[in-house]
Amino acid sequence: MKASGTPIAMLTAYDYTMARILDGADVDVLLVGDSASNVMAGHETTLPITLEQMIYHAQCVVRGVTRALIVVDLPFGTYQGNSKEALLSAVRVMKETGAHAVKLEGGAAVIPAIERILEAGIPVMGHLGLTPQSIYRFGTYVVRARSEEEATELRRDAELLEAAGCFAVVLEKIPASLASSVSAAIKIPVIGIGAGSGCDGQVLVTHDALGFTTEFNPRFVRHYAELSETIARAVKKYVSDVREGRFPGPEESY
Ligand code: KIV
Repeated sequence: MKASGTPIAMLTAYDYTMARILDGADVDVLLVGDSASNVMAGHETTLPITLEQMIYHAQCVVRGVTRALIVVDLPFGTYQGNSKEALLSAVRVMKETGAHAVKLEGGAAVIPAIERILEAGIPVMGHLGLTPQSIYRFGTYVVRARSEEEATELRRDAELLEAAGCFAVVLEKIPASLASSVSAAIKIPVIGIGAGSGCDGQVLVTHDALGFTTEFNPRFVRHYAELSETIARAVKKYVSDVREGRFPGPEESY
């Protein structure tokens, strides 16, 4: 798709029903993101989600998909600093879920882990820029790589990921000009989130794009629906129908 200039559309999915809808709507890549920690489990960060929980979400997604590529995030603490553990985590994801690839966050520091996973024949997607699993190192979710020093490091990390054999890389919340220069400089697809229009594809957290998460409004999110309002309106109608005896009617009874 990159070679033909066709932008790649990627969204997150964590459950069977949503995965089925997104797959049926032609999404190219479904990411079982560790953002499940936020939007499914209600945690403040992505750190608490476990490998078992990610595997459960991925199994649910795989059952709903017939055509999209399915990528699963390796959660915090399952690959950093230990390439053997990284391999075992990735193998568990592939064996127990039926997904097609894993994603992990970081540059130079995780290259040994990436190489070991790739040697086992497991495709790896990288993730640079704002890396939510390192939130306590940075202390904030502000735009990354604004300084020349950080931008240079990110460019170098993207090249390292490509050279190691990653099939794609996510760039999160960095200046658009930097993201488009990285996309032009490397051959593997660059999927942006808050990284401008010069990337080879885009990803959003589905719950943000569909307006489930009303309290989270960074400028890079576009709401394609306001499902939080739609659902609340529908549920209020159901509650009042039940309370006032309008549901069920004769046609909904046996
Ligand atoms: O976990 C996630 O949803 C992600 C995307 C934001 C890229 O990593």
